[in-house]
This record gives sequence, structure tokens and C-alpha cells, in this order.
Amino acid sequence: MATRRVILLPGDGIGPEIAAPTVELLDAVAPAAFEFEEHLVGGASIDAHGTPLTDETLAACRAADAVLLGAVGGPRWDTTDPSRPRPEQGLLALRKGLGLFANLRPVRPVPALYDASPLRREVIEGTSLLVVRELTGGIYFGEKTRTEDMASDDCVYTRAEIERIARVAFRAARSKVTSVDKANVLETSRLWREVVLDLHAREFPEVELEHVLVDNAAMRLVAAPRDFDVIVTENMFGDILSDEAAMLTGSLGMLPSASLGNELPPNHPDSTPGVFEPVHGSAPDIAGRGIANPLAMFLSAALMLRHGFGLEDEAAAIESAVDRALADGLRTPDLGGDATTAQATRAVLQHL
Ligand code: NAD
Ligand code: IPM
Ligand code: MN
Repeated sequence: MATRRVILLPGDGIGPEIAAPTVELLDAVAPAAFEFEEHLVGGASIDAHGTPLTDETLAACRAADAVLLGAVGGPRWDTTDPSRPRPEQGLLALRKGLGLFANLRPVRPVPALYDASPLRREVIEGTSLLVVRELTGGIYFGEKTRTEDMASDDCVYTRAEIERIARVAFRAARSKVTSVDKANVLETSRLWREVVLDLHAREFPEVELEHVLVDNAAMRLVAAPRDFDVIVTENMFGDILSDEAAMLTGSLGMLPSASLGNELPPNHPDSTPGVFEPVHGSAPDIAGRGIANPLAMFLSAALMLRHGFGLEDEAAAIESAVDRALADGLRTPDLGGDATTAQATRAVLQHL
């Protein structure tokens, strides 16, 4: 197997605590297949270089085959002063800099954890959905203004941006695409709806399409999550709905993500490197205690193998080792147990 170059960005808080065991797991699933190069990002990079993402780190990511990221942020760098750097800006600059417009967040509660969720088992059972979140547009990246007494964040979407993310969603659908917007209020959502309808009629008439307003989607996600297959939505709605959806799996510490920039096959020379990272953040409330759940990061590594490298068997091996470890009773504190990160890692390695 050719060596793949992976940039490892552990980041802040629990990031380094879950990144190290993920490297161990990848080395176990495909010995000598990966060459890791570690860089600072987020708060750690602010401390060292005064900026959350240096040009060198971005260039290294561009030149690599994939990027594996822990999490960024923490109280140490929290500020409301717009002139001071924030760790999160590093993550946004990385996504934008690599052109990663498509963020895939699969939500597949495993039977072993049905009773670990605050929702009832009957509600969750059989849920398997995919949130396709637009990642480089919308209110996150529009112009920002700030005076002493006023602030604004522009929300902008172009037809091309909407069409390319909708295409990702239709291609991923098994039965249905649910396009989530706020077309009863927002102009960007009205364009969103038009473009999705257009694309559906032209290229994907065989896929069922429904439009749901975001407030209603938030309700339906916990009332009848089985009704969803693929949810496609704009940047901020996707951010919020995916944390909500994570609780169907029992914990935010279970949800992986893949951020992709094009639809070329993984081994194509022009394929842009993806960023693979858990949906959760740096969890400052538990950082430094060795009790973070590493499974979201393990599952993100599996997505890297699948979407980044086309290594389907190895990806499935990680996913099934995670499933079996959970079936065997593995529970970190976020899932109601007392396993440490190291014990969770050992349990998964044993089942690999
Ligand atoms: P968070 O996701 O870090 O934590 C929310 C809650 O979930 C906390 O109680 C935390 O302990 C728990 N949790 C999250 N991941 C866990 C894991 N793997 N194992 C066990 N418990 C876990 O969200 P927050 O507290 O709102 O944000 C903290 C910081 O992280 C902020 O600076 C935020 O901007 C940043 N953040 C970064 C990312 C990222 O790097 N992709 C994502 C979200 C938030
Ligand atoms: C996520 C995070 C980021 C986002 C933050 C840290 C910028 O919440 O990856 O979901 O809002 O996209
Ligand atoms: Mn988020």
C-alpha cells in the first residue's frame, strides 16, 4: 500500500487526548500505510505564532493527502474583542482555504447505545441519517461589521454554491433528500429552495425530495428521526442540527465528520485533501482528565479511510471494532460509564 501523508492537527483541549490514540488505531488497522506530520492549530497556534492557522500549516495541509483534526478552542482564548484572534478562525480558514464546501455528518445510533440516549429507544431504533452541511458559505463567511452599538453578519449564498452542495446530497441519498431552510423568512433560503427544486427536476427526479423549515426540522429530529435519510442544509442550520442529532447516538462524543472539497475519486491527482474531524469541540470542562470519548475521532479516521483514501475495508474494520467494543459494554463517562480514553482505545484495538 502506498504511503499516505496525513497532517495531524490535534488542536486544543481534548483534541490532543483523542488524536494520539487515533494515530495508534490507524497504525494498527494499516501498518506503515500513513506518514503523520503534526502541526499546531487553534489556540495552540495562537500561543506559538500569534495566529490560529499559519500559512505554513495551510500549505502543508494543501500538499498532504488528508488532514485529521482533533478540536480547537477553549476559555483561555475566549474573547469578544473582534481585534483579537480566536482559535475557531483557524478552523474556518482551513475549511475555506482547502475549499471544503461539503461537510458530511452521518448519524447512525448503534443498538448497544439505544439506552444511552436521553431519547427513548422506540424513537431512535432504526435511525440512519446523514447531515450534509454546506461549509464554506452563508452567515459564517459573509461580511461582518461592528461598532460600539451595532453589529452585523451578512448571509450570502450563490446559485453555484447551493447547487454543488445539493448535488452531493442527492448523490448520497438512498431514498429521500430533506432540504432544510427558512424560506418563510430568509431570502437566501428562497434561493436555496429554488435551486434545490431546479436541480432535482433536471438531474435527480427519481429521488424523493421534501422541504422542511428549520424550526420544524429541529422538532422532527427528536420526534421522528427515522423519517430522515439525507438532510441538506446551509452552514449554520447544519451546525446546530448536527449537535442535536448527535444525541440520538447517546453523546456528542460519538459523531464523526468528513469535509470534502470535490467529488473526484480519492486517488485522483487533482483531488483536494479532506479534513476529517469529530463534530464536537475541545470540551474544556473535561480536558486534561483522560476521560474524553475518543470514538467520534476514531470514526472520523474511518471516514478518512473511506472518503479520503478509498480504503473501504479498513474503514469498515474500525467501525465494526467500535460497534463491538460498545456491544461488549465500553462506556466512557459521557455515555454513563467510567472508562478512560486509554481503556476505550484498548477496547477498540482488541476488537480490530
Ligand atoms: P463541546 O463540543 O466542546 O462540548 C459540549 C459538551 O459535550 C461538553 O459537556 C463536553 O464535555 C461534551 N463532549 C464533547 N465532546 C466530548 C467527548 N469526545 N467526550 C466526552 N464528552 C464530550 O462544545 P462547547 O463546550 O460549546 O465548546 C468548547 C470549545 O470548542 C469552544 O471554544 C468551541 O468554539 C469549540 N468547538 C470546536 C469545534 C471544532 O474544533 N470542530 C467544534 C465545536 C466547538
Ligand atoms: C463545528 C464547530 C465549528 C462550526 C466552530 C468551532 C467554528 O462548531 O465544526 O461544528 O461552527 O462550524
Ligand atoms: Mn458545531
